[in-house]
Amino acid sequence: MTLLVTGGAGFIGTNLVRRRRAHAPDEPVVVLDALTYAGCADNVAGLPGVTLVVGDVGDRALVDRVLRDHGVRAVVHLAAETHVDRSIAGPDAFLRTNVLGTATLLSAARAAGVARFVHMSTDEVYGELAPDAAPWREDAPLAPRSPYAASKAAADHLVGAWRETHGYAAMIVRCTNNYGPYQSPEKLIPLCISRALHNEPLPVYGDGRQVRTWLHVDDCCDALERVLDAGDPGAVYHVAGPDEVPNLAVVRAILAAAGRPESLIAHVTDRPGHDRRYALDASKIARELGVTPRRRLVDALPETVAWYVAHAAWREAALARLSAG
Ligand SMILES: NC(=O)c1ccc[n+]([C@@H]2O[C@H](COP(=O)([O-])OP(=O)(O)OC[C@H]3O[C@@H](n4cnc5c(N)ncnc54)[C@H](O)[C@@H]3O)[C@@H](O)[C@H]2O)c1
Repeated sequence: MTLLVTGGAGFIGTNLVRRRRAHAPDEPVVVLDALTYAGCADNVAGLPGVTLVVGDVGDRALVDRVLRDHGVRAVVHLAAETHVDRSIAGPDAFLRTNVLGTATLLSAARAAGVARFVHMSTDEVYGELAPDAAPWREDAPLAPRSPYAASKAAADHLVGAWRETHGYAAMIVRCTNNYGPYQSPEKLIPLCISRALHNEPLPVYGDGRQVRTWLHVDDCCDALERVLDAGDPGAVYHVAGPDEVPNLAVVRAILAAAGRPESLIAHVTDRPGHDRRYALDASKIARELGVTPRRRLVDALPETVAWYVAHAAWREAALARLSAG
């Protein structure tokens, strides 16, 4: 079985491809990635058993060719525009990749008879959760508030439409905020690590009391693999980290791990429509597939800081792509 990972040169994709090579070394992996500012060819190119195809998930002729030429039997769809701030400034690329790209991939995978399809989504599709409300379950209504979240919710609806209309039963994984190696320094944790290491101010939106549930990318990838291998066709699964923490506390922990003073914290004007809290009930995937994320921020965050310290060249190249793109 050949596995296609779209967006496999991005943050979660890179970690997934590397772990999958270790767990299923005989399974060829094809990465289809447009190599936007968020993707890095060197993350996956040259790995044994991995073929990198540079191209757009919305290019139907290319996707058809990749599925056919590589005999793809399974897909993990991670390709997306992923940064909320960018979606506010310019939503078009989010609609093209996240909505039209997902529709193109679903059509092509169905036509090619791809047996297993995992679509990656986010807790942000549900909108904002009240401070004292119970975490969302998989059947909660979608109520996205940012253009990014709306594009992801639209993609989730397309997956549902292909299931109901065509009987093509892709699975959806909705997870909380990831952190770990290979994440673009535009996202909170690598951004703050990078700024701290350069002794630059760490921007914190508003009062910094927005609460997120942090999931180490290794735990996320374990869940994706488990759903890919054993998930119920057509099902939706939540994956949530064990640490529900305000952003300000995360930033303080990064400064402590990097040995930098809290005076580097700089509160900046809050993002418009910034959701105060997300949280997912992940009991279904624990019950049905035995997935329970375990990595805790207290250990994994200092380890993540150490990774970015040790990979200065990767970090600087990612910063250069950000400035260029
Ligand atoms: N990182 C998180 O915290 C998080 C949380 C929940 C859900 N997700 C979802 O997980 C998926 C992966 O997220 P990530 O953090 O790895 O994102 P990322 O931004 O690091 O990587 C996205 C990858 O997709 C590629 N890409 C973008 N447009 C493309 C296109 N048109 N065709 C082909 N490739 C394209 C980019 O080059 C990049 O390599 C996304 O669907 C995202 O919405 C991420």
